Amino acid sequence: MTDLTGRIAVITGAGSGIGRSTALLLARHGARVHAADLHAASAEAVAAEIAGAGGRAAAHALDVADPEAVEALAASVFAVDGRVDVLHNNAGIGHAGNVEATTVEDWQRVIGVNLLGVAYGVQAFVPRMLEQGAPASVINTASQAGLVPAAKMAPYCASKYGVVGLSEALNAELSGRGIHVSAICPGIIDTPIVANGIMRGDVAALHAKAVRFYARRGASPDEVAEAVLRTVERHTMIVPVPRRQVTAPYLLHRLSPRLIQPLARNMERILSRG
Ligand SMILES: NC(=O)c1ccc[n+]([C@@H]2O[C@H](COP(=O)([O-])OP(=O)(O)OC[C@H]3O[C@@H](n4cnc5c(N)ncnc54)[C@H](O)[C@@H]3O)[C@@H](O)[C@H]2O)c1
Repeated sequence: MTDLTGRIAVITGAGSGIGRSTALLLARHGARVHAADLHAASAEAVAAEIAGAGGRAAAHALDVADPEAVEALAASVFAVDGRVDVLHNNAGIGHAGNVEATTVEDWQRVIGVNLLGVAYGVQAFVPRMLEQGAPASVINTASQAGLVPAAKMAPYCASKYGVVGLSEALNAELSGRGIHVSAICPGIIDTPIVANGIMRGDVAALHAKAVRFYARRGASPDEVAEAVLRTVERHTMIVPVPRRQVTAPYLLHRLSPRLIQPLARNMERILSRG
């Protein structure tokens, strides 16, 4: 069993879904967890759940799209704990819609949270993590949509391809200095992300079906949390999860981006099976 006793973990979007599962799992393995979320109450609920189970956690209200707020979080975590061993940049929002129904504000919000939110986490924490002089992990939540395209998800794909790209570039830059950077790429996971996501145009009519599809067919967020824990140990750079969903399309896309286009066009039909 991985022993994270004495290790410090920071998780954004920790109030729900994948972030919540990861916070609970890392705490069970001994880490002190800083659970940050836009919704302070959900971060507090997760921290209380950890404390109730005998673990150690602190809750933080945080908007990852606000670079000053992310910098303030890093300053306060280092002031209290002096180190961060696992940074999980996980907060994200869903968006789907045909391009003519998508707004400039949608692009700004999706890129602002899903991509720049990760970049702000890196900028605030990594220089401090380099100074602490101990090996550490930065684990960014990307998506299957950061490895293969999906029609009517251009802003979301752009944000998640960006997360995969920055993770690979940073790993090349930092792994020699002890900081391993990974991109977790979940497929369909049963969390409220679709229920709470932005849906535009003809995709909006499928919202209820897509929510049902995620509930019925989605893997548990606990499975993604297990992958995060394994990544802390193994430093895998790109982590498709669950492999049964994501690996085949990922490999097909690597073989030929053209071959994946029919699947990319079909995504909406698949989701409407809910
Ligand atoms: N659920 C899936 O099928 C799936 C698939 C691939 C990738 N992902 C990614 O996984 C990550 C976690 O999503 P999830 O499925 O657990 O969804 P979720 O909605 O259950 O959790 C997301 C959490 O992020 C928080 N959040 C949203 N905007 C924020 C902001 N600006 N600042 C701080 N916190 C914010 C929300 O309050 C929420 O608690 C996201 O990056 C998402 O894109 C999810």
